[in-house]
Amino acid sequence: MQLHEFQHALGARPMHYYAEIGSTNDTSLAWLRDNAAHGSIVIADYQTRGRGRLGRSWHAPPGTALMFSIILRPSHLYLARVNMIAALSVEMALNDVGAAQTTLKWPNDVLLNGRKVCGILSEGAWDGSQFLGVALGIGINVSVDFGDTPMASSAISVSEVTSDVDRVLLLTRVLHHLDTWMAQIATDTPRTTWRARLSTIGQAVRIALPQETISGIAEDVDEHGALLIRRADGTLGRAFAGDIAGLSMES
Ligand code: BTN
Repeated sequence: MQLHEFQHALGARPMHYYAEIGSTNDTSLAWLRDNAAHGSIVIADYQTRGRGRLGRSWHAPPGTALMFSIILRPSHLYLARVNMIAALSVEMALNDVGAAQTTLKWPNDVLLNGRKVCGILSEGAWDGSQFLGVALGIGINVSVDFGDTPMASSAISVSEVTSDVDRVLLLTRVLHHLDTWMAQIATDTPRTTWRARLSTIGQAVRIALPQETISGIAEDVDEHGALLIRRADGTLGRAFAGDIAGLSMES
């Protein structure tokens, strides 16, 4: 099934499909401000200005990735859990389509065979102090050919482990799991489940923050999704996803 046929698969969910767009996050943020309903989605076959975390760009050739943004309107109290349930939903959807060797890497990468298969960029929208909602952007490498590029050692496509991945099926599985997790967003279950899946926990890490670099063993995540790192001197450091300039594994 081609992506433009996904409307049929999604039923009544409000959606916009673009063969080419700047960024699905930008378009969904504008739609969010224009009263889009919770659950509305923007999907694109190709992005000319795809954005990643920390101001990075995110690019995939036409037709090779599943790229979409979903508009969610949770309470602002549960904002941190949106990234957690997004990663969990993508991981479960990948498992559904036969890509089984998945783990999660803090803060919100989904890994397949230890390499990054999906990036997540959630952006909140506010009207002054009033929280409007979140544009949750998800990009999954379905059949991107990383070839001999430097990315080949750290990135992977689903097609490398399972052939004939149907992007519409993958999308419907992600949305199914997102709906299920959203129903639990007021509980601590998203965090405890996410924490249990994080390969980062227990690893020696070095995290570059604007003011300092924290080295130690990643010990836990708190309710805000921050990573807690036990330094060699026994003190606990805390890193927020939005602050990190770099995270490297030392083991
Ligand atoms: C990252 O790993 O840095 C996050 C990458 C997020 C990419 C997705 S693709 C769909 C959505 N639209 C964007 O511009 N970015 C996200």
